Order: sequence, then structure tokens, then C-alpha cells
Amino acid sequence: MSMVLASYLLCAIFLLVLLRILRRKFPVYSKPNLPPGSMGWPFLGETLQLYSHHPDSFFATRQARYGEIFKTHILGCPCVMLASPDAIRFVLVAHSSLFKPTYPPSKERLIGPSALFFHQGAYHSQIKKLVQESLSLDVIRHMVPQVDSIAVSALESWSSAGIVSTFHQMKEFTFDVAVSSIFGHLGACHKEKLKRNYFVLDRGYNCFPLNFPGSLYRKSVMAREALSNIIQDIVQQRKEETTMQKRDLLGYMLNFRGGEKGEPLTENQISDNIIGVLFAAQDTTASLLTWILKYLHDNSDVLESVRAEQAAIYRANEEGKQPLTWAQTRKMVVTNRVIMESMRMASIISFTFREAVADVEYKGFLIPKGWKVLPLFRSLHHNPDFFPEPRQFDPSRFQASPRPNTFVPFGKGAHSCPGNELAKLEMLILIHHLVTKFRWKVAGGGAAGESCKNKEVEYRPFPIPHGGLPAKFWKVDRDSHAQADRT
Ligand code: HEM
Repeated sequence: MSMVLASYLLCAIFLLVLLRILRRKFPVYSKPNLPPGSMGWPFLGETLQLYSHHPDSFFATRQARYGEIFKTHILGCPCVMLASPDAIRFVLVAHSSLFKPTYPPSKERLIGPSALFFHQGAYHSQIKKLVQESLSLDVIRHMVPQVDSIAVSALESWSSAGIVSTFHQMKEFTFDVAVSSIFGHLGACHKEKLKRNYFVLDRGYNCFPLNFPGSLYRKSVMAREALSNIIQDIVQQRKEETTMQKRDLLGYMLNFRGGEKGEPLTENQISDNIIGVLFAAQDTTASLLTWILKYLHDNSDVLESVRAEQAAIYRANEEGKQPLTWAQTRKMVVTNRVIMESMRMASIISFTFREAVADVEYKGFLIPKGWKVLPLFRSLHHNPDFFPEPRQFDPSRFQASPRPNTFVPFGKGAHSCPGNELAKLEMLILIHHLVTKFRWKVAGGGAAGESCKNKEVEYRPFPIPHGGLPAKFWKVDRDSHAQADRT
């Protein structure tokens, strides 16, 4: 018996020594564990599960099972998902240099490889500073008259057009605002060419990247080339003007001098970043505005409180005879809360992508080099611990500030959105004119204020209400407007 015990003991000691040697020789043995979660089927991973379920339930079930950090395998990539304020802060702020932005090459080609999204470090900081300057409060406060006139003419055109796709119309509106912020005043011919080619590029951006004659992707690539040429033409024209000191993005880019020799930006750096900003500005704001109209339509009490706030401003401006001012847009407290709550509910950017550039340890878990890392913004915004009854549309919850790092509609850290203030400004101005001078009815639903039956969501690629929210808009005549205000 004692012989048997002794041999067991010897075996155990031998195994322990072997393990120690292996650990020293191959550090992988001493690494922390991967996060919990399932990598699904070989090759397919959990791609089918993601696409066959509602994305919310895919993430929610895994979060409930595994907690704030879990692994999965989607579209051929091993991924780590992060669903807590700490984890998201860790990746996007505290250790952002260890996580680089990552996009499919087909998309990078369409936007342009010099666009700031794809970069980190010095080049990214330089471009980001220019973009931030062109979108600072000091600059956009002077944009109120431009945005105001774009909003009014958009609403006038919808109101004479029968049933329209709200999303489609919002895309036109946000495109015009973005062009105005990038180029200042632009001639009709250039604007028309930009718009035509931009929308071809936009159509192919999310399709399968098959690059053969006649394919959507090829058409997008060609539209991308045309856009570059149009931008070069505008740049040439701007250079011939006597004043280059314009405070639009193009002005900031043309005046930039970097490095020791004071180098200007190259043509490609200018056009890639202009197309990039146009892209970032347009679909996001249009999707959110479409949701805002749906939420206002479905929540008559909220609509009435927004209308009351805006009607007071309208009256103060002598029934719209005086222009809306920057100061007034800064005091639209109720409307601003509706925008915040819509950003939370719709969470149009549900998550973002990064890639670990080295093995990283987070709370005892390994995030391996090369793995995709996805901070799940939507999961934060729909977590009942931070937002009680998260499926309830309740703007009043924003009377108190959300807990730190729980509300991140514009991202966080080095790559956070530089266009947040412009986005808010254009939404506030559009809502002001919409609720004071117009009414709308969702096709298939009731008039604004009655419940809308349609609950489906489409992804283009951001979530939008089904069919882009087909709706009819009409102008309220002055008499009924005054009467409505009195009651
Ligand atoms: C409601 C509207 C908008 C939402 C919800 C939104 C959201 C975001 C988010 C979440 C990011 C960070 C992405 C990441 O970390 O990977 C981002 C980045 C960006 N956004 Fe926005 N955005 C909006 C409107 C705009 C507008 C109007 C502009 C420009 C006029 C703009 C320009 C940009 C740019 C250039 C970036 C990239 C910044 C960088 O990589 O450093 N966005 N946006």
C-alpha cells in the first residue's frame, strides 16, 4: 500500500514540475482564461444565431448567461463583447491604444483609406482636431439660419408630396445640412452632382462587395471616384477665391499645415475625410430623426409637451416672422429630453468595432491579440439597472443625468463623435418647424398622437422603423394653428 501511495506521490510531483517547466517555456499556459461564452459551430460560429434572432435578444440572452464580458464567433471573426460601463471605458478610453478601429476592406475602399475613422495616433489626432474645430459650438452657432432654411424648405416639399418615406426625406435633409457644414455655400451644380453620386455610393455601401460590371458594389466604387473628382473641382475653385479663411471643414483642411515643414494635406486626405464626414453625418442623424417622429407620433402626451414648448418660441418670434435664434435652440429643454430618450431607445449605433493589437487582460479575462472587440452601447442603454423600464419611452428620465458611462449615443474616447452638437442642432430646428407649422400621419397608423401599430424594425444598416416610416405631412393653416394654441 505504501508503495502505491509513494508512486502516486511521485507521479503528482513529476506532473507539477512538468507544468512549471511548460509554463515557463510557453507563457500561454500562464495566461488568464478567455471570457465565458460559446464559439458556436466550426467556421459559422454563432453567425446564424445572430441573424436568425432579433439582435437585442441575441445579446441579452448571452449577457444574462455570461455577464458583462463574453466571447462569440461571428462572420468568421472571434469576438469579445462588452456590456458594462467599466468594460466599455476600459476599451474606448483607458486603454484605447490597445484597441484599433477595424472595418472591412470593402468599406474602407468606398470611404477612402485616409479617412480618420481608420486611424489611430498622430494622424488621427490632427484630422480629428480639424473636424472638431469645424463643428465646434463657436462655428455651428452661426449655422442656425442655414439649417433653418434647409429645414423649412424640406418640410414644405414633403407637405406637397403625398405619402413619403420619412427616412428617405430625412436623408435628403441631413445630406444638405452636412454639405453646408463641410463646404459652406455651394453652387447648385456641384451640390446636385455630389448628391447624385453620394446616393449611388450609399446604396452599395452595405451590399455584398462583388466587384463586377453592373454590380451595386462596382457602381458604388465608380460613384466614389466621381465624388473625388467633384471634390477636387470644388477645392480648385476655393483655391482661386481671394478668401480661404472660411470656417467650414474644407476651409480648415485647406489652411492646415502639419509637420516640421508645414506640409498641407494631400488631395486624397482631403477627399477621403470629406466623404467620411458626409457618411458619418448623414445616415445616423436621418435614422434618429425618423425614430423621433415615430416616438412623437406614438406618444401624444409627449408630442403635446414638445408642441407647447415650441409654440411658446414660435409666438415669441411673432408667429415665425422673426428667425429662430441660437439662444432659443439652447433652451429647448423638453425637446432636448425627447432627443436624448430617442437616442437611448433607438440606440441606432448599437455597438462599435475595435481589434485588440496585443493580448490584453481585463478583470482576469484574456482578450487575445487580433480578436474583434465590440462595446455594446445598446445593451447599456437597455439595462434596467441604469434605465428602469427600458422599453418605456419616457423622456422625463433625463431630468436627472444618467450615471457616468451608461449613456453613450455618441461613443466615448478618442473616436467619439465630433458632430454631436450639429446633429442636435439640426434635430431641434427640424422639430421646431415640424410641430409648430405642420402635422403628419403615419401610413397604416393614426394621425400624429394616435398609436402606431407598426412595430417592425429594418436595418439599413442602422435600425429604422419599418419601410422608413411612410407618412403624409401637411401644413396647418394659420387660423387653425392659432385656435389649436388657444385650446
Ligand atoms: C444622431 C446622430 C449621430 C450619432 C448617433 C453619431 C454617433 C457616433 C458614434 C457612436 C461615433 C463613434 C464610433 C466609434 O467609436 O467607433 C461617431 C463617430 C463619428 N461621427 Fe458621429 N454620430 C452622429 C452624427 C454625426 C454628425 C452630424 C457628424 C458630422 C457632421 C458626425 C461625424 C462623426 C465622425 C467624423 C466620427 C468619427 C470620429 C473618429 O473616428 O474620431 N456624426 N458618431
